[in-house]
Amino acid sequence: MLVTTTELFRHAYGKYAVGAYNINNLEQAVGLFRGNLGKRDKNDEPVDPKTAAPFILQISRGARSYTDKRFLEAIIRTADEVFPDSIFAVHLDHGTEEVCYDAIDSGFYTSVMIDASEHPFEENVAITRRVVERAHAKGVVVEAELGQLGGVEEDVVGSVRLTDPDQAAEFVKQTGCDSLAVAIGTSHGAYKFAGSQGVRLDVLEKIQKKLPKGYPLVMHGSSSVPAEWVQRINAAGGQIKGSSGVPEEDYLKAAKLGVCKINIDTDGRLVWCAIYRETFRDKPADFDPRTPGKVFMKEYASYIIHKNQVLGAAGQLDAVRQFIAKKK
Ligand code: G3H
Ligand code: 13P
Ligand code: ZN
Repeated sequence: MLVTTTELFRHAYGKYAVGAYNINNLEQAVGLFRGNLGKRDKNDEPVDPKTAAPFILQISRGARSYTDKRFLEAIIRTADEVFPDSIFAVHLDHGTEEVCYDAIDSGFYTSVMIDASEHPFEENVAITRRVVERAHAKGVVVEAELGQLGGVEEDVVGSVRLTDPDQAAEFVKQTGCDSLAVAIGTSHGAYKFAGSQGVRLDVLEKIQKKLPKGYPLVMHGSSSVPAEWVQRINAAGGQIKGSSGVPEEDYLKAAKLGVCKINIDTDGRLVWCAIYRETFRDKPADFDPRTPGKVFMKEYASYIIHKNQVLGAAGQLDAVRQFIAKKK
């Protein structure tokens, strides 16, 4: 069932964070839907209520143009039919104004992110406001960003600018955006922190205090970049050195401070890379795309189950279903 992020955030606020996972292809979609229903494999029991979770499926501009955006849409609509117990939102990740309008007008996305964070404050406000007006007229909800994460984001290599708590309150008031992505020390990709750097929960707490009660915050760049997966990649010929990610124990701490959505892309890519490298290393005579594909879908589903557990979202699916039904 497709829902808006607003419904998910109302249920999660202050208790847990909803996982927001980026996908680019069929195998990622299948692993993602299975994992969120607590299924590791095709033949698993339909739903494990202890692990099943609501989730946000994110599509970046890069994912839309990788083949043709309509392929991804078709995959997701089909997944909704194949996995009717799922509860999820479809979200445009890091949209420009133009791409946001395209997503809003498509009628498929329940939520868009306008990322005008590279612009000066007033310009970010103006762009975000325009997108909010157009989105709200169609029942689509809007995430915006203030401050700047480090790391690689689409084709921009960013420099860090932490979100100013006073500006955050003003930004939300002036734009009417439904949730706010904040820069609190994380960055996109597999190389997040140097030395003793980490997530600035102190800044997050200040931001939460300045915003209206119950206002949902979003944490980007939140992959944990597990050493285990990096080691597997490197053991199979990869060269990922000096990587680091967000400690998983920070997820729930951030959730308690108002973060309702935690963005994870890099971890999924690491799982993908490890499985494909290992498969063809171990089976040099094999050239069937389904050989690594089958293993990947299972491993990715298992990883999603684990991630939802550390986000506190595991086991919340039925409660969210009841919560949504009551509101109708
Ligand atoms: O924020 C960036 C996301 O990880 C999406 O990455 O643009 O390479 O799909 P991508
Ligand atoms: P990661 O690179 O940490 O997975 O961040 C993903 C993200 O923020 C997508 O918007
Ligand atoms: Zn991001």
